[in-house]
Amino acid sequence: MARITFIQPDGTRQAFESGEDETVMLVGVRHNVPRLPADCGGQLACASCMVDVPEPWRERVGGPGLDEGDMIEDALGARPVGRRLSCQIRITDALDGLEVALPEAQG
Ligand code: FES
Repeated sequence: MARITFIQPDGTRQAFESGEDETVMLVGVRHNVPRLPADCGGQLACASCMVDVPEPWRERVGGPGLDEGDMIEDALGARPVGRRLSCQIRITDALDGLEVALPEAQG
């Protein structure tokens, strides 16, 4: 389990404990975090679960996989540094304390 903080564009912060074997997206959706529709339910098919990982966490979280990176680029026309699909970030104990920022708009 890990504590995950979601930060809205206006600076509003919400922190939640993850369950067993969850992704960042599942934690956010379970708590109705705004700006996180996650339309495809984690099937890597919608790009509506994007988050920005702050610099201090990027190494631990890792970068997007090949298909994930392509999906971000298809949605945005670019691959912003730190941008991830939260359904592809599986939570481990090493991510306890992770903060992610919600973008103004999803793909
Ligand atoms: S929930 Fe659809 S790609 Fe993440």
